[in-house]
Amino acid sequence: METVKFTQMKDGDREDYAFLTEHEIEYAAGTAHRLLAAMVDLDKSLSGYKVTRLGHSLQAATRAWNAGADTDWVVSALLHDIGDIYAPYNHDEYAAAIIRPFVREQCAWVVEKHGDFQLLYYGEHVGANPNKREAFRDNPYFEDCAEFCERWDQSSFDPDYSALPLTFFAPLVEEVFSRKSYDPAVTRAGVRVPLSDQRTAAIRSGK
Ligand SMILES: [Fe+2]
Ligand SMILES: [Fe+2]
Repeated sequence: METVKFTQMKDGDREDYAFLTEHEIEYAAGTAHRLLAAMVDLDKSLSGYKVTRLGHSLQAATRAWNAGADTDWVVSALLHDIGDIYAPYNHDEYAAAIIRPFVREQCAWVVEKHGDFQLLYYGEHVGANPNKREAFRDNPYFEDCAEFCERWDQSSFDPDYSALPLTFFAPLVEEVFSRKSYDPAVTRAGVRVPLSDQRTAAIRSGK
């Protein structure tokens, strides 16, 4: 069997769908690889900033790494702007949709809302409400998103910052996307993990 027998989904049988499931599993296993290739495309995206979108993403991820943040945070920082490629008007939601099955609920929420939180830094210059984040004040992850934006996002447009390369983060991306999707042990609803960990940061910096 090289393809299914049907031309309309309603005509498929158990054998067809078992065959398709196998294909889907095989294709899904390549997600990390495709995302890493997409990150390279971010390097070509239109910017106007002093750094490319890839440069910005690597800088955000490097700051997360240096802070001793865990894998979920580092990968979320790396991929938070990946939605820019296909969804420039809701890039935050797009990126969150990609990572949501494989990271903590906390990180997916922060990535989803970071666009609104970022307005604090420039909303007044573009006729947008800088305090749009206030709509989420009661959310348990509000402070995490505020910290994510302050420390890793709005700060990561510095061409002189020495960021780690994409190859450094590749194994972390592979690890995250090889997890079982929507595993409650991964999504950990309601759990808040701090963005930094001094002991891990010290080990990573070799001090
Ligand atoms: Fe963004
Ligand atoms: Fe960003």
